[in-house]
Amino acid sequence: MPEETTNLQDQPNENGTESDKRRVIIRAIHLKKEYQIGEVTTQALRGVKVEIYSGEFISVMGPSGSGKSTFFNMIGGLDSPSSGRVFIDEVDVAQLTAVELAFLRCRKIGYIFQQYNLIQYMTALENVTTPMAFGGIAADEARVRGMKLLEIVGLKERWFHRPIEMSGGQQQRVAIARAMANEPSILLCDEPTANLDHHTGREILNILKLLNTEKGVTIICATHDHRMMDMCDRLMWIRDGQIDRIANRADVHIELASIGDDDE
Ligand SMILES: Nc1ncnc2c1ncn2[C@@H]1O[C@H](COP(=O)(O)OP(=O)(O)O)[C@@H](O)[C@H]1O
Ligand SMILES: [Mg+2]
Repeated sequence: MPEETTNLQDQPNENGTESDKRRVIIRAIHLKKEYQIGEVTTQALRGVKVEIYSGEFISVMGPSGSGKSTFFNMIGGLDSPSSGRVFIDEVDVAQLTAVELAFLRCRKIGYIFQQYNLIQYMTALENVTTPMAFGGIAADEARVRGMKLLEIVGLKERWFHRPIEMSGGQQQRVAIARAMANEPSILLCDEPTANLDHHTGREILNILKLLNTEKGVTIICATHDHRMMDMCDRLMWIRDGQIDRIANRADVHIELASIGDDDE
């Protein structure tokens, strides 16, 4: 596995120099999130502090209920923390106006979920071009761009299909193309392969990896599945609302090689 032992952060490529690679794109500081339902308070995040670098592919591992989705909602500007701060490109998300926050969600971050969340009555192409309309792209250009994105995810010939006519893997491909509609610099992927068989999941991860290496998109991907770890540059384990550990993939490979398989 010679190329797998390298770390993207140390590898300059066309997207930037080594110092660019270390640029922090998301900074979370002392993130806490409590949910209150009636008398019951759940501490979903208990003080998460992490820096994510531009252009890296980071996997977020952890058992169900450990706080992965809550963490994603905070760093994606979809929900606000009970305390702590999130900076995206060094801008404090909490300080943004509603318009600025909408811009961030529409243009800077693409979201991919476990359930593909496509609009059922729209074709694949319409699903992909809809966010472009919000992004201010003219219809003709949106169509060209949408077809290009569907080509990247391997679905150009199926642009007119509706979700019901597509397999889970194909729907997730459309969802990836849609997430890329406005050329975001960050893709937040919350268990994108959880509903897919291993082979199809692998294909989806290959597409994410391609977007990471070819377009320099920062990928943050939650998963239960440690088989996907060879895609990523770093792994972060969340347990009980806290970061248990963050490691470079190369180091984890060495550990696995010496101790055998790992638990989550
Ligand atoms: N909207 C919510 N209201 C109340 N509790 C929630 C809500 N979302 C998540 N939780 C709780 O917060 C904890 C973390 O959940 P979550 O972030 O979804 O974990 P994961 O994505 O790792 O499975 C769990 O105990 C979950 O039940
Ligand atoms: Mg989740």
